[in-house]
Amino acid sequence: MTQDLTGKVIWITGASGALGKATALVLAARGAVVIASGRSVAETAFGTAAIDRLPLDVRDDGAVRAALATLLARHGRIDGLVTSTNVGAFGDFLDLTDEDWQRVLEAKLLGTVRPVRAVAPHLAAQGAGSIVIIGGRGGIDPPPQHFPGASVNAALDLLVIGLGRRFGPQGVRSNVIAPGPIQSPRFAGMEATKAGTARYNTESSIPGPGLPGDVAEAAAFLLSDAARFVNGTSLLVDGGGPPYN
Ligand SMILES: NC(=O)c1ccc[n+]([C@@H]2O[C@H](COP(=O)([O-])OP(=O)(O)OC[C@H]3O[C@@H](n4cnc5c(N)ncnc54)[C@H](OP(=O)(O)O)[C@@H]3O)[C@@H](O)[C@H]2O)c1
Repeated sequence: MTQDLTGKVIWITGASGALGKATALVLAARGAVVIASGRSVAETAFGTAAIDRLPLDVRDDGAVRAALATLLARHGRIDGLVTSTNVGAFGDFLDLTDEDWQRVLEAKLLGTVRPVRAVAPHLAAQGAGSIVIIGGRGGIDPPPQHFPGASVNAALDLLVIGLGRRFGPQGVRSNVIAPGPIQSPRFAGMEATKAGTARYNTESSIPGPGLPGDVAEAAAFLLSDAARFVNGTSLLVDGGGPPYN
């Protein structure tokens, strides 16, 4: 089985972010037709004309469906989806407000559900496709300054099991990538609000932090035919978690 993605049409939300952008570049290098979405994606420098841009705010379900319609009109089909949206809401549990929680629910939980709900019927109708959701290690190892994001990551770990069962029989695989600490502005922002526990969720057994490309390579695998029997699971890309010493 091959990890080549030549000709596959793959939509990435959050493609103006560190992990989404790295994933867009790796998929394009593997031969995929990549459609990059984000609110500010028009300003994002990909350094290649091979990546199509489709500005989108995932908080608006109508806009998500309209963006997919535009994508299908431009490219004729869709073979894969990567969701990689989130906003920063870091701080102690007692300080974070309803508004902080709601921003994360909108950008990451519903911001994942909406494109998956739009794309899945198209993949199911053609009997093949791959959905990759960027979750996070916080879903099983919640850092003290990151309860909203960690809670959503846990929800996505569960969601993907259900999606795997719901759409697997129709040839559509759904998986989560759960990154640990990855070198990025987001990770730096989380570090800056660390609530007293240096060890928690920022360490890895393989010296880190990891790189956005580490997540991108995992996404490329899950989108490829080499992952044909991988469905409904969460893949940690975290260097193995904190060391025991
Ligand atoms: N970096 C890490 O260490 C790490 C670790 C574990 C998990 N993760 C997860 O991995 C994912 C990507 O992380 P990252 O480091 O790449 O984060 P990032 O650089 O902050 O990127 C987040 C992306 O989400 C997009 N976005 C936010 N709100 C949106 C909205 N309403 N509509 C459309 N797009 C929206 C942003 O684009 P616009 O601002 O242009 O809209 C941006 O492209 C996130 O879900 C994050 O929680 C990251």
